[in-house]
Amino acid sequence: MSVETGWSMNGGRMQLYRVNYDEIAAEYDRRYQASPMKPVGSALKTVLGGLGAARVLEVGCGTGHWLAELAAPRREMFGLDASMGMLRTAQAKVASSACLTHGRAENLPFRAASFEFVYVVNALHHFEDRQRFISEARRVLTPGGALAIIGMTPPRREDWYVYEYFDGTYEIDTARFASRETLREWLTAAGFVRVESRVIHEINEERVGRAVLDDVFIEKRSTSQLALISDEAYQTGIRRIRAAVARAEATGRPVTFRSRLQIVMLLAHVPMY
Ligand SMILES: C[S@@+](CC[C@H](N)C(=O)[O-])C[C@H]1O[C@@H](n2cnc3c(N)ncnc32)[C@H](O)[C@@H]1O
Repeated sequence: MSVETGWSMNGGRMQLYRVNYDEIAAEYDRRYQASPMKPVGSALKTVLGGLGAARVLEVGCGTGHWLAELAAPRREMFGLDASMGMLRTAQAKVASSACLTHGRAENLPFRAASFEFVYVVNALHHFEDRQRFISEARRVLTPGGALAIIGMTPPRREDWYVYEYFDGTYEIDTARFASRETLREWLTAAGFVRVESRVIHEINEERVGRAVLDDVFIEKRSTSQLALISDEAYQTGIRRIRAAVARAEATGRPVTFRSRLQIVMLLAHVPMY
């Protein structure tokens, strides 16, 4: 079972909440119907092409969306995840093209120098010990190999309406998303060289009024930010959004819900010798 914990306010008291990926596995891929994030696939394919990598590992592979996207003849794809539920969904998708393993990022069950490319998409912030994962990635990579870490940059409060309406979500993200500078330090400390970072995808959406209620990202089970807050905090946020929409409709002054998020790729190389 893969469970991520987080703290949130409930009735004036801090309480511990969990994201249980086994429970949300069946619904997880709905996010890709709503937002296919094609630039992530393109960025990974460009790196893979440059490296000519034949053995590739995705850590925190979830439902196998990116494993399926990157599958190619003469390329061996491997996926590792801590959630059996997510892996079962992945199995149905990539059974013939990828080898899946149940395990933890902090303790990769592979021999040293097993892969030419290791990548992580939207998962690093879930790992309990991110630095330990980075040294594990360094260990399982071959000389000349590379690690790509793809995910959201630490967000600004005004960038996402979710932070404005759902108490605790901003604090949760601030605590779990490492800055580019911190990641660069961790990668260098683990022995990686030539650490590059670039924005590969920008989400810039505005939903006006009632349209926000169709956003898949305000469903509690679709978004880890919302899965990590209490039911009470979640329901309060939904009530606030409905009230803002009702006010806008009553006054004729439209209300806009913004999502301005950047997805960054950090690419770090293992020295040849
Ligand atoms: C947001 S999902 C991303 C899945 C996939 N990479 C994608 O982009 O669709 C995060 C995944 O990380 C996995 N995960 C969380 N902690 C983990 C750990 N310590 N080791 C391995 N996987 C972990 C979860 O089970 C989940 O499948």
